[in-house]
Amino acid sequence: MLVPSPLMSTFVEARNIPSHVAIIMDGNGRWAQLRDLPRVAGHREGSRTVRRMVRACRRLGVKALTLYAFSEQNWERPEIEVDALMELLREFLLSERDEILGNGIRFNAVGNLGRLPGLVRAVLEPLKEASRDNDAMTLTLALSYGGREEIAAVARELARQVKAGEIDASEIDAELLHRRMPSLSVGDPDLVIRTGGEQRISNFLLYGLAYAELYFSNALWPDFSEHDLHAAIASFQGRERRFGLVGQDPRLLTIPPQARAANG
Ligand code: FPP
Repeated sequence: MLVPSPLMSTFVEARNIPSHVAIIMDGNGRWAQLRDLPRVAGHREGSRTVRRMVRACRRLGVKALTLYAFSEQNWERPEIEVDALMELLREFLLSERDEILGNGIRFNAVGNLGRLPGLVRAVLEPLKEASRDNDAMTLTLALSYGGREEIAAVARELARQVKAGEIDASEIDAELLHRRMPSLSVGDPDLVIRTGGEQRISNFLLYGLAYAELYFSNALWPDFSEHDLHAAIASFQGRERRFGLVGQDPRLLTIPPQARAANG
């Protein structure tokens, strides 16, 4: 079955929806700059896009949506911007609470959450608790998050356990590390989208990215629409994921045009 996108020009196949979609939401500042507005106005508009994308992913049947909302490095931004982002986050958690609970969404947060202001934690923790048994979709916000920092925290805890004699160093393998990564409790991301035109990963979900499909959109995050989301998913559906193995369907093997030309 095909699900038509709002503009009817992209078709998303209903049976091959990526289970875990992760998004690097970039371009709020530039969106504001283009309108001679303060950067915070871009973040405010960006939080409206968050709301739209949560709804769109739920409608498509995405099982997990992880959003990079604030990186560990973002603390270095001007205080006025950090404060505004924390306020927007609190507003979002308060205003979306009913919709999250009413639609069976489990809310989660990963990152160095202890660094968040008390006013944010005071709404975040109860929402996590109230939604813990929901299973329609898991919405995870990566907050004060860094992929390297997450790996380091897991390594630190494993080292402590080895020292305490709780586990043997020989038991530490890729699977054990995977099980310990908070950001991967919902499984590896299948599709990672970055908006805003840059093509980099910026310390997001490093351990889980091993076999993720990457999609880069030129849309600035506040402009990113349901149609853009469908285009990203349609692109994902057109790819053959091989996970290091040999392809199953030779028709899906993409030979880049330059390689085809160079090989006659
Ligand atoms: C990157 O854009 C975006 C962020 C650092 C923050 C993302 C925050 C939101 C989308 C709004 C609040 C979040 C929630 C969950 C309600 P940028 O500022 O780096 O943009 P630029 O590259 O154009 O400067």
